Amino acid sequence: MHKNILICIILALLSPLVGGAEELSNGDLFQGACAGCHGADGAGRAQEDSALEVLPPDFSDCEFASREPDADWYAIIHDGGPVRGFDRTMPAFGDALSREEAYKILAHVRTLCVDERWPRGEFNLPRPLFTEKAFPEDETVFTASKDTGDSNTFELEFLYEKRLGPVGMFEVSVPLATTDTLSGSQSGIGDIAVGYKHTIYHDLDRGNILSVGAEVILPTGDENKSLGKGTAVLEPFIVFGKILPANMFFQAHAFAEFPVKDGFDDELGVRMALGKTWTSGGEFGRAWSPMLEVLAIRDLTSGADTKVDLVPQFQVSLNTRQHILFNIGARLPVTQTADRDAQIVAYVLWDWFDGGFFDGW
Ligand code: HEC
Repeated sequence: MHKNILICIILALLSPLVGGAEELSNGDLFQGACAGCHGADGAGRAQEDSALEVLPPDFSDCEFASREPDADWYAIIHDGGPVRGFDRTMPAFGDALSREEAYKILAHVRTLCVDERWPRGEFNLPRPLFTEKAFPEDETVFTASKDTGDSNTFELEFLYEKRLGPVGMFEVSVPLATTDTLSGSQSGIGDIAVGYKHTIYHDLDRGNILSVGAEVILPTGDENKSLGKGTAVLEPFIVFGKILPANMFFQAHAFAEFPVKDGFDDELGVRMALGKTWTSGGEFGRAWSPMLEVLAIRDLTSGADTKVDLVPQFQVSLNTRQHILFNIGARLPVTQTADRDAQIVAYVLWDWFDGGFFDGW
């Protein structure tokens, strides 16, 4: 055969593979690789008649889709459902799709939720021990704190956060405390707080999210047993989160406390956290997020001292789905150290929208 004809035939055979693949749009890629199970419209649930035992989710449902960060979805596309504790009917595409193609498909999937009010899951940054997150979240957090030194002071806090629509969140916290008093150690319920948080701005390209809110701390704890403050307190706050390069992040939280009763000073506080997330066991493995928090609070009276604490800590995901998280750290006073002990603080966080406590291990 003539050499030129042979080259022509080879080129003709290769062209649909080489030339054609480059021209495939994000939507075409989705139709080719995913629509068979997820439905042409990505709504998944329309597949109810199919042979799939586990139904694919509805990517057009913003309440579900907006909370999942691209990195988690990429992990699932590459390694299959089980990498995040989902069913193995969600296949692993491995190298069948390049990273670029997978992200093109994700770009298409992201067009299916059309309500842009929902902040993206990328903003659900690792939760510091004290700094409030800006992201409105459905989660339950159990926090334990224990004073070091001679005192027996111990506190358990139960925090419940419930999302209200795209940008709202309701929260309630119930502390149970044991304190040292002159008449011995006392235990009981502390001051219960209820609050509301509202995201007023978020921009994924810039990596910024900003929320405002207010909390009412109720005098439910017995002040004679040092379990409560003895007055209701109104606490407006503002919280900011920033996604930084190289999996780093910064979070800030400023608040004021206005006690309702006379005889208590108003207070002003700032909390900040800087951290970075690493994974162990490969790109999609367990997430480790060491953080350093700085806490500062002072009375709003002239000449008052500022109490400053440093809180080194790390958060780690406990299960495969990564919706059960553990964090432990030490609260170390750096000013006014005479009457303030260091504390060990730890929490277990359950992001319950992502599944039951025992799902996805
Ligand atoms: C063979 C059927 C099948 C194919 C093909 C398929 N999926 Fe899936 N996918 C599923 C099923 C079923 C689930 C639900 C698994 C579960 O809930 O345990 C799922 C779940 C997912 C999830 C997890 C969503 C969550 O809950 O956070 C993502 C992301 C996803 N698929 C993306 C894709 C993309 C992108 C493609 C194409 C590249 C694709 N899937 C192809 C069946 C499939």
